[in-house]
Amino acid sequence: MIMQMEKLVSLCKRRGFMFQSSEIYGGMNGFWDYGPLGVELKRNVKNAWWQDMCAGHNELVQLAGAPSTFEMVGLDCTILMHPQVWKCSGHYDLFHDFMVDCRESKKRYRFDQVRGRWVSAKSQRIFVTTMVEADSEVEETQRKAQKYFNLRAKDVDQLVWESGFLSLDKLTPEEHAVALAPDANAIGTFTAPREFNLMFKTYVGALSGEEGAAYLRPETAQGIFVNFKNVLDSTRVKIPFGVAQIGKSFRNEITPRNFTFRSREFEQMEIEFFCHPTQSPGWYTYWRNRRMQWYRDLGLSDNRLRLREHHTEELSHYSCGTADIEYAFPFLAEGEYGELEGIAHRGDFDLRSHMEGKLDPKKRPLELERTADGQPKYRGSGRDLTYRDDLTNERYTPHVIEPSAGADRAMLAFLCEAYTEDQAPDEDGKMQTRVVMRLHPRIAPIKAAVFPLVKKDGMPELAQKIYGDLKKHMNVFYDEKGAVGRRYRRQDEAGTPYCITVDGQSLVDGTVTVRDRDTLIQTRIAVSELTQEIKTRIGS
Ligand code: GAP
Repeated sequence: MIMQMEKLVSLCKRRGFMFQSSEIYGGMNGFWDYGPLGVELKRNVKNAWWQDMCAGHNELVQLAGAPSTFEMVGLDCTILMHPQVWKCSGHYDLFHDFMVDCRESKKRYRFDQVRGRWVSAKSQRIFVTTMVEADSEVEETQRKAQKYFNLRAKDVDQLVWESGFLSLDKLTPEEHAVALAPDANAIGTFTAPREFNLMFKTYVGALSGEEGAAYLRPETAQGIFVNFKNVLDSTRVKIPFGVAQIGKSFRNEITPRNFTFRSREFEQMEIEFFCHPTQSPGWYTYWRNRRMQWYRDLGLSDNRLRLREHHTEELSHYSCGTADIEYAFPFLAEGEYGELEGIAHRGDFDLRSHMEGKLDPKKRPLELERTADGQPKYRGSGRDLTYRDDLTNERYTPHVIEPSAGADRAMLAFLCEAYTEDQAPDEDGKMQTRVVMRLHPRIAPIKAAVFPLVKKDGMPELAQKIYGDLKKHMNVFYDEKGAVGRRYRRQDEAGTPYCITVDGQSLVDGTVTVRDRDTLIQTRIAVSELTQEIKTRIGS
């Protein structure tokens, strides 16, 4: 599987799906650029989400046996918001990971991501850690232990290993003293764990001091909560309703890794769904199922996808129930899954936090304030963010169900699922290994490629005409260079679902061949029906 990931990463660069940001200057860890194919794929993923969840939403839902409808509207909020937003959301006080530094290598690690194993030799017991991928950690810990104990290859059986791998945060402070850090030669070089807030800080305007301090948003969600009243007052939406937003979020991840899976700049596709508290469990179930089905509909297979309910101790500070949609990414060890999307029951936490209390303008910068029992003390806007039901006259603070997806992670999962190697006949009819990206036609960057079989006899002219006609409706590609078999292969790698070839017969009867990327079946279609045929096949 790791091998497949390496091939995918190389294809993504070679074919222009993704590049490391600022590559010519050595790159920036945790930042990625999308190339010509990647930008189309990502846009298609976001458009499919927007269309299915917001603009095209028209669903009748059975909730507790009764039919229920709801509305969806969109928002596009700023990345920088009033700092008090992050104080009230809890991010200012609570959005942190624990990190440890290594005094010897000067490297920094996320506390829970350093994994290691206890080993004894020469009457000493140490904890050997690594940061390598799961499939090579046994080999790497063995190599490090052998080096530390100065053992030759023939003496490795002197190493006595205990149980399996543990993460560093499971050790006691005394045990830390005998831990061997991933890039160190001596033991005991880890510092004590420290809190590290993941929000990027910047300064707004000419004020460079704390007066002008602001934070890049770590989630798009808060823009929706602080606009709750604006949406209610400017539209006719009634509860239950949802607000959708797609946009960039930023987190200063301590150890960004696994390609784009954990980045420092990424895009989220979030819905805040407002409902009556008594109906919230039903809507929570509805959204979990609906979001799972969305990934299935766009091609993720059930045997790599799962829905996992969080244990109580895993819940975020705001959540009274969360389920993750997870995918078995190929860079993870066998049996492990990575989060694609979280569906959280946030109760009334956010609206209440933004409502309670009064903002004291003199209280900036935002110092950590806690109540007597150690809980963060929030200072809300003091605005009324409750909802009044016109029919019943009931006034209440709505509960919120939040399906929160990552556009980059969804795209990575679609790419991982799509990467396939199969056997297909080459020009001479010989079976050859073919790399094909089996992307769902709806999200494929290029919908169809148009080829003249040869560069003469009027074929390029007809092919150009077809290309021009199709281009008005979808992203298509024209290619007349090289053998047609090689042109097919290039499109297979780009995930193009259909290749249209103009041949000798086209000039006689006005038909072309349409080759299906997955089945390799070629059908003759009249040029006059081509646009509609491709549109129907891609489902647009
Ligand atoms: N508003 C809730 C929220 O932000 P989250 O679980 O922290 O919840 C939601 O993030 C989704 O955003 C994740 O499921 C993931 O798809 C994406 N995401 C979060 N951090 C990310 C990162 N560092 N890189 C890429 N995607 C990330």
